[in-house]
Amino acid sequence: MAHFPKPSEGSWTEHFEIDTEPVSYADSISPEFYEQERDAIFRRTWLNVGRVEQLPRKGSYFTRELDAAGASVIVVRGTDGEVRAFHNVCRHRGNKLVWDDYPREETKGTCRAFTCKYHAWRYDLEGKLAFVQQESEFFGIDKSEYGLLAVQAEVWEGFVFVNLDPENTTPLREYLGRFAHGIEGYPFHKLTQVHKYRAEIGSNWKLFIDAFAEFYHAPILHSGQYTAGEAAKIKKYGYEALSYDIDGPHSMVSSWGGIAPPKEKAMVKPIERALRSGLFGPWDAPDIGMSTEELPPAINPTRSKVWGMDTFVFFPNFMLLIWRPNWVLTYHYWPTSYNTHIFEGTCYFVPPQNAFQRLQQELAAVSFKEYGLQDGNTLEATQTMLESRTVDAFPLCDQEVLLRHLHSTAQSYVRRHQQRRSETPATAS
Ligand code: FES
Ligand SMILES: [Fe+2]
Repeated sequence: MAHFPKPSEGSWTEHFEIDTEPVSYADSISPEFYEQERDAIFRRTWLNVGRVEQLPRKGSYFTRELDAAGASVIVVRGTDGEVRAFHNVCRHRGNKLVWDDYPREETKGTCRAFTCKYHAWRYDLEGKLAFVQQESEFFGIDKSEYGLLAVQAEVWEGFVFVNLDPENTTPLREYLGRFAHGIEGYPFHKLTQVHKYRAEIGSNWKLFIDAFAEFYHAPILHSGQYTAGEAAKIKKYGYEALSYDIDGPHSMVSSWGGIAPPKEKAMVKPIERALRSGLFGPWDAPDIGMSTEELPPAINPTRSKVWGMDTFVFFPNFMLLIWRPNWVLTYHYWPTSYNTHIFEGTCYFVPPQNAFQRLQQELAAVSFKEYGLQDGNTLEATQTMLESRTVDAFPLCDQEVLLRHLHSTAQSYVRRHQQRRSETPATAS
């Protein structure tokens, strides 16, 4: 029996005019397709690489290793306060400009200029080449021609994005579309207490997005998180979302749950009762300057009384979860090959006022880590069996509508990119 109304077409999938036939996962087990995704998606779309709080002052910087795009970028706040991004490549002989002990590891810090470790060429915070060691040994070098190569960088609601396509003409806000407009005004800047997880996952990047874009699996895969009585109840209930929505390449699911404190306290674990916190966050929601009813319109779009959280999937690899008890979670999926990726989960809370609040937040954060491990483990089991190619068509239910959308979006980006390339006249060599 349906708990929440569906669109007049009878299903979300048909409402969005998405095919209901079984789907192929060929796009998740092919090294060739992954190479095409790197070109068509990761070298062309806006990618979220961090938050402005990571760049608190002039000269603050961090680097990001974007394997899928074949790039390393430096993101820095300039002397004028602007956030900029550059390819992390020295113009002299191509050394990686900013790194610490291990060249492949990301780093961060504050500086007045970037100095190459190899021959000490120095670049200012705006990317201009400021110093060349033994400049007179060069052959009339014009320093203005050897600045760092800029990467497009823009900020939306404190989230810093880069776009590695020098020919990109779509501004970030336009790319992020309707959901982003409808989220604007949420006080992300007040949620500065951060807990971060990072894991190497043995699956295609899209498979992990799949696992967070549906909750059909939650009552089953994560049943160990609940007391036995609660697990049985949840399994019987199953899962239905309040609503789904799609906007171009992006999508969202609005969900019930997470209402704190739970109606039946006997159903939660002793530590959750003691700390008044759990998977859905601390039960005592902090003041963020707006009530649940006053949240921006894209959040809890159906204005449901039982709303618990929304998940926004910003294509390709940035997921934003906004929770009723006034905290936020982000997920990033950074491909490293067709069947591996790095997963990052970041929890954002209002800074705790005392030790008890800190413990409440830490319990929420570790509960998430536990969930994430359960998903990560399962994904490796899925990836290996998909790669066996024993089965090549999989039936997806209506609660898995966003998975169909994600995979068809990735495929259409690849298809369109190939078309563009075949239409571009070959240049004479
Ligand atoms: S490679 Fe950077 S100064 Fe030579
Ligand atoms: Fe899960």
